[in-house]
Amino acid sequence: MAIISTSDASVSKYYVHISGSDIELARAEIESLVDLHSIGVGILWYGRLGFIDCKSNPIPFLLSRAALVREVGNVLHEGSDPETLLNRITKGPLTEILNSKRSFSVRIYTTDYYFEEEEKQQFIIDVGKRIQEVTRASVSLNHADVNIVVNVIHNKVVLCEAFKSYQRQVLTQRTPSARAFFHPSMMNALLARVMCNIASVQPDQSVLDPFCGGGGILCEAALIGAQVTGIDMNWRLLKGAQKNLIDLNISDFSLIQGDSRKIPVSYMDSIVTDPPYGRTSSTRGENAIRLVSSLIEQSIEFVENGGRLCICGSQEMNMRNLFDQVGLSVKYDILIPIHSGLTRNILAVEL
Ligand SMILES: C[S@@+](CC[C@H](N)C(=O)[O-])C[C@H]1O[C@@H](n2cnc3c(N)ncnc32)[C@H](O)[C@@H]1O
Repeated sequence: MAIISTSDASVSKYYVHISGSDIELARAEIESLVDLHSIGVGILWYGRLGFIDCKSNPIPFLLSRAALVREVGNVLHEGSDPETLLNRITKGPLTEILNSKRSFSVRIYTTDYYFEEEEKQQFIIDVGKRIQEVTRASVSLNHADVNIVVNVIHNKVVLCEAFKSYQRQVLTQRTPSARAFFHPSMMNALLARVMCNIASVQPDQSVLDPFCGGGGILCEAALIGAQVTGIDMNWRLLKGAQKNLIDLNISDFSLIQGDSRKIPVSYMDSIVTDPPYGRTSSTRGENAIRLVSSLIEQSIEFVENGGRLCICGSQEMNMRNLFDQVGLSVKYDILIPIHSGLTRNILAVEL
């Protein structure tokens, strides 16, 4: 894997290009995963692009875990403008990944920078020629061994090796209706994965969904490798969750029929959940807020300090207030408009 040198010799530079309609949610997911992968790293965001300083290569981890990533890669060369970048394309990192037997393609991605179309095409040609001179590799537009992307921002032009992510595609296909058991209240796999990532769920950790319904969240947490426990009052939905988990070849889980106001567990590493809210829910408004209050009170007892809770509700529930009242630190508070009557609120809290 090629790296570029920075002031700290052990730190390398990577980039991530996020996808999805909600930039704030995608950023929260990537920040949480990068934190989980390597302590004390920084991400600098420019719209959908994030530049990551990291002591260990986060690319395989982000490709396997993140839902809202379009591509990730490592930074090969950078300059303050297109001309400077061209002059900086020399051997070093490029010759570690390209040689006369390998092929490459070049794309350009601009954010907050205006290129005339002609100027842009010429720049792609110039970058391609320069890479060929340096590496003797050939150009292949459709089946390249190495995909090069030039990320152009107002104050920097960055040449990167890019790896496309397929997680979003896989997760989008795992719709509630494609599951062994379906119920309209179930969470889709994409949002469930994002929430598990924001909650920093790790393999072998214990994860609780105290409103587990048909198990959308439980399935994603279990696929990450966590030990999952679900609680729900509704027996039919619990049976559905069991069917969905078994259908994914997950055999090690606990499902409890009960009321989340009396959670019968003594220890959990994290909680990922969505209490009943929204127009179709029978427990809208006041009742949903009372359920969340009770969950907060109890979770302080059975989740160790530093464990995370990620919860999805509606804006009108004003869940942040509930966490502020008990002095818990809210790490992310994200609003996602769904339709005129509903704005989703996703909160991640350190317990
Ligand atoms: C929005 S659905 C949950 C979807 C689920 N988390 C998923 O990932 O697919 C809310 C669920 O909360 C359950 N519920 C409502 N009040 C409850 C309570 N007091 N205790 C336990 N479950 C409850 C409902 O039966 C329903 O299945």
